Amino acid sequence: MSSAKPRDIKDANRKAATRLYPTRNDIPEKQREQIVALMNARLAELIDLSLVIKQVHWNLKGLQFIGVHEMLDGFRAGIDGHVDEVAERLVQLGGTALGTTQSVSQNTSLEPYPTNIHKVVDHLKALADHYAATGAAVRKSIDDTSELGDEDTSDLLTGVSRTLDSNLWFIEAHLQEGE
Ligand SMILES: [Fe+2]
Repeated sequence: MSSAKPRDIKDANRKAATRLYPTRNDIPEKQREQIVALMNARLAELIDLSLVIKQVHWNLKGLQFIGVHEMLDGFRAGIDGHVDEVAERLVQLGGTALGTTQSVSQNTSLEPYPTNIHKVVDHLKALADHYAATGAAVRKSIDDTSELGDEDTSDLLTGVSRTLDSNLWFIEAHLQEGE
C-alpha cells in the first residue's frame, strides 16, 4: 500500500502534467508540449460536459421528459467516445491524460452547472450554453493544433466539433418555435 501523503501526491501530479514521455513521433517536443496542454484542457471540458449530460438526464421534470431523457443517453455515449479519443491522442504525443475529478475541476473552463433547476426548458438552455462553450473551445483548438503542425489532432478535433454542433442543434430545436 502506498504511504504517500496527499501533498506529495499533488506535487507528483503537477510534475506528471508537464512531463513528456519520449516518442518516435516526429512532431517536435516544443509543439507536442503545447498540444498536450491544450488537449488536456479540452479533455477536462468534455468530461465535464459528459457528467453534466447525466445530471440533466436524471433531474429533468416536465411534459417533454421522456424524449429529452432518452436523447441524452445518445449524447452521453457520443461524448464519451470523443473523451477517449482526445485522451489517447495526447498520450500518443507523450503526455499524461488528466482524467481525475480533481484534474477536471481544475482544468475545465466551463461554468459550474446549476443543480437547483428541474424544468425541461431550464435544463435545455443551461445545457445549450455548456455545449456552445465546449464547441467554441474545440473550434479554437482545431486552428491552434493546425498552426502547431499537428493536422491529425486538428482533424480529430474537427470530428469532436461536428458532434458538439449536431447535439447543440437537437437541443436548440426544442427551444425554438416553428412558424
Ligand atoms: Fe438512465
